[in-house]
Amino acid sequence: MITHKKLSNGFEYIEVQNSSATAKVALQGAHLFEYQRVGQEAILWLSEISDFEQGRAIRGGVPLCWPWFGFSEDKTLPQHGFARTTMWEFVGANEIDDSETTLLFRLSNSEQTLKIWNYKFLLELQITISKELKMELKTTNLDDKAFKISQALHTYFSVSHISEVAIKGLDKKPYLDALSWQKEVQGGNIRFEEEVDRVYQEVNNEIILVDKNREIHIKNTNSASVVVWNPWIEKTSRMSAMKEDAYEHFVCIESANAFDDTRVIEPKQSHTLIAQIF
Ligand code: BG6
Repeated sequence: MITHKKLSNGFEYIEVQNSSATAKVALQGAHLFEYQRVGQEAILWLSEISDFEQGRAIRGGVPLCWPWFGFSEDKTLPQHGFARTTMWEFVGANEIDDSETTLLFRLSNSEQTLKIWNYKFLLELQITISKELKMELKTTNLDDKAFKISQALHTYFSVSHISEVAIKGLDKKPYLDALSWQKEVQGGNIRFEEEVDRVYQEVNNEIILVDKNREIHIKNTNSASVVVWNPWIEKTSRMSAMKEDAYEHFVCIESANAFDDTRVIEPKQSHTLIAQIF
């Protein structure tokens, strides 16, 4: 079942319910903010105090960082680009069968986007809601000049407690430490005892989020970078829409094209970043 819903403040979202899972996607940012398999705990973390307000990114779920990840060269522009705070068009849904639904969202250049990023583009997000969650973010260059993008499916995973978590699959991978801006190499699994903000490079394998009672697998396609982020105690108190203890309950593992993995897209060409979560 697919329902188009509207909150009293006008905020719109699409709700999907099938025999595998339920999901909710806001039209602002094509932002998936709930995905839960039937009879199981939520996969995505969503801040209890997140704003569902126009022009402000939802804190949690899967914000789309596009057409840049982090800050652009012009530091006055918003961190992580404009796609996550812009209204998208809901193109439609396809109920493949009782257990699998796909949703398609679309964003293209407007007068407003051309002012901050002077390229013509088509951006499409297809989300598949089934036992597996699949997100396919396709960028098409509709301009007559090439452009560069960095991007991320900035997934906030819900965890039992951050002290219980380990991330497998990044051992020996080089990474850029976004706290010191040093290049380092990962030794072993990642565990959390302080703030972590890293862009792993040369990643072409599955990542496993190991929690107390479950494992979540992440498989990325057309991506060689993965961002791992937890703000820890002090940073959390300075983040918007996060309660003081929020850092204990999530970890971000972001399927990305960032830093050395930035992509150039030639006119009429496309690039599709894919994340499968199962
Ligand atoms: C992560 C970055 O991807 O996003 C962090 O690595 C950043 O440095 C975080 O703080 C959250 O960003 P925002 O803009 O959603 O508060």
